[in-house]
Amino acid sequence: MKHSTVTRWVSIGLAGLLLAPLASQASSSLAVEMGCYNCHGAYPRGDAPSFERLSVRFEKRRGDAAAEQHAVEELLRGEPLQHIPAHEHLSPETAQRLIHWLVEGAK
Ligand code: HEC
Repeated sequence: MKHSTVTRWVSIGLAGLLLAPLASQASSSLAVEMGCYNCHGAYPRGDAPSFERLSVRFEKRRGDAAAEQHAVEELLRGEPLQHIPAHEHLSPETAQRLIHWLVEGAK
């Protein structure tokens, strides 16, 4: 029993190592593609924070997978009084890549 638990964690760890470089790849072009810059660009629209400001705010989560995941869930869930379809219609995988990009400094 114990052995299989260890094996499982090791394979989860390995999968993480293999997926990490994928997650950080070309996410700024993904953000362009997904229309995020329409509201979060250098001249943000309405009360949308610029990605520059968001990445400063998200920096605290760097290296903390649970905190990063929490941000992904918040983005997908949306605000109770303010629906932003561009957020809520993201696939979990795309949302994860975009949040990871922000947490890593939005470069
Ligand atoms: C129609 C305009 C619009 C578009 C398009 C848009 N956003 Fe937003 N976004 C907002 C606004 C407005 C807020 C501030 C909402 C709030 O925090 O109450 C926000 C907040 C955020 C936040 C902060 C959420 C938090 O926890 O405070 C993140 C992260 C974010 N957007 C990511 C994205 C990404 C990634 C995309 C592209 C898929 C995107 N947004 C597209 C308007 C937009």
